[in-house]
Amino acid sequence: MCGIIGIIGNAPVTPLLVDALKRLEYRGYDSAGVATLINGHIDRRRAEGKLVNLEARLRAEPLSGTIGIGHTRWATHGKPSERNAHPIATDRVAIVHNGIIENFQELKDELAAEGRRFESDTDTEAVAQLLTSYLERQMTPEAAMGKAMGRLRGAFALVAMFSGRHDILMGARRGSSLAVGHGDGEMYVGTDALALAPFTSRVTYLEDDDWVVLSSSGCTVYQGETKVERPEKKSGLSGALIGKGNHQHFMLKEIYEQPAVVGDTLQYYLDPATRTVRTPAMPFDWTDVSRLTMTGCGTAFYACMVAKYWFEKLARLPVEIEVASEFRYREPPLPEGGVCIAVSQSGETIDTLEAMRYAKSQKQILLSVTNVPESAIARFSHAVLPTLAGPEIGVASTKAFTTQLVVLLSAAIAAGRARGTLSRAEEERLALAMIELPARINETLNMEGDYRRIAENTLAAARDVLYLGRGSSFPVALEGALKLKELSYIHAEGYAGGEMKHGPIALIDDAVPVVVVAPSDSIFDKIASNFEQVRARGGKLVLLSDARGVAKLGAKAETSIAVPDIDPVVAPILYTVAVQLLAYYTALAKGTDIDQPRNLAKSVTVE
Ligand code: G6P
Repeated sequence: MCGIIGIIGNAPVTPLLVDALKRLEYRGYDSAGVATLINGHIDRRRAEGKLVNLEARLRAEPLSGTIGIGHTRWATHGKPSERNAHPIATDRVAIVHNGIIENFQELKDELAAEGRRFESDTDTEAVAQLLTSYLERQMTPEAAMGKAMGRLRGAFALVAMFSGRHDILMGARRGSSLAVGHGDGEMYVGTDALALAPFTSRVTYLEDDDWVVLSSSGCTVYQGETKVERPEKKSGLSGALIGKGNHQHFMLKEIYEQPAVVGDTLQYYLDPATRTVRTPAMPFDWTDVSRLTMTGCGTAFYACMVAKYWFEKLARLPVEIEVASEFRYREPPLPEGGVCIAVSQSGETIDTLEAMRYAKSQKQILLSVTNVPESAIARFSHAVLPTLAGPEIGVASTKAFTTQLVVLLSAAIAAGRARGTLSRAEEERLALAMIELPARINETLNMEGDYRRIAENTLAAARDVLYLGRGSSFPVALEGALKLKELSYIHAEGYAGGEMKHGPIALIDDAVPVVVVAPSDSIFDKIASNFEQVRARGGKLVLLSDARGVAKLGAKAETSIAVPDIDPVVAPILYTVAVQLLAYYTALAKGTDIDQPRNLAKSVTVE
């Protein structure tokens, strides 16, 4: 969701704030703003729309100051407008905020009764006015923040700057992430280590309910009224990591990074010499597990869906999967001693975190598969299975998903070995197939021209597109449809091939492209029947299969691509790259904003 940054130093901060906001823009891009203190007074510049608009405003009306805060927004309360853009300020305090203040209405009513006037439609203003009310009662900023923390409900991270106080900035978090960066005579506080990366690699991650006071030379962290120690860590992120390189978009760069990051993740989970999977030590024994629950949101949920096939097939383990936002409220009974796996690239998706809280209340052992080892979800888990995808900036997830699949397949193989359902020979065969993945992904990327042609000639002009798959290709079809709709705004749906005749077949005519994800596996003949059903109704078939599949069905398709041959168990990982390329090039042909699609944000920290 929103990105926040605060800097206290001795040199002009506005260019640094804008630089940090550029790194945070993937989190929200409907408005942005910065505020600094000038001779003790809060001054701010805000602009609706993308960060470039704020930059233009700052060129016209520069903002000096050596202490400041900045924000890039994904609107929750109040539509995107300059009035609702952060920093939200009174004459005493300016606030930038990520998350939701759930009791904002109660606070607003209370504060309005004191005679306070609200100028925005945001929940954030309740915090600014609450602090102002405390400050006007002669509380120090520290006392005001400590007291406010006791009043605020919800999941949030915020940074506050106080008029007349060039010497301090304050931050606070509950649920949403916030990190402090240590510089040389300059201190930073921001959403994550990525935002702080150009300034410093010395980072302190705040815990839930922490609030922090920063000066230009250090910081003090509190929980309630008690001072607490939080370690300073070295962040591995360098500023260079988040450039686009020679690619036109972050998404394309991240698609192209897949051979490397899948390779890195494999190296962590596989011993190529012995062809053995090696997962980190688990706080349970797979033989004691009676049921696995898996949850996540968006693309991460589709990773759970693919993994369900793997755990059930390879480890004969019953698996329940559900999107986190439904799972948490359904309150399903979970067996004692069960394991719950949460999948989340960012590690901060609130629905996923809350689903884990529910699973914990049901005495589940919590595992997380995440790309951010310092994230809230990672820290909430009993054990973490990291993906080694590196920072993902494109809003539509690509390399995070394929590395999640590598991790989950490794875990399913480890579970199968431990439970005696997977022979040594099978493990070796699967390990070998996984080791081949980086090369096969490269071959797929080398065929980008073919995907581009299909995108331009068949998909870009369509109003609706269907994706079909069976077995573990079904979630790949869902992922392909999700990618296409979020990037190109073309309506797309994924269906299990066998379900098509129960409804979606009514949509098929010669204007509807149907992308069929069909590696030659044990159910290829079944999807071939679905293929014929589409063909008989004049649908435009796009076949994604291997050379054998294309030889069998290619002549009947409008167009087909031979994806490199790969073991069917591993195929979802490779076919994902194929559907990513189709979505990317369709969006490119349509001229949509690929890295920042409308209305979306990358890290969803609100319900
Ligand atoms: C957002 C992103 C998706 C992502 C989902 C879950 O909707 O746009 O790309 O799959 O959140 O995010 P997570 O960080 O939990 O994987």
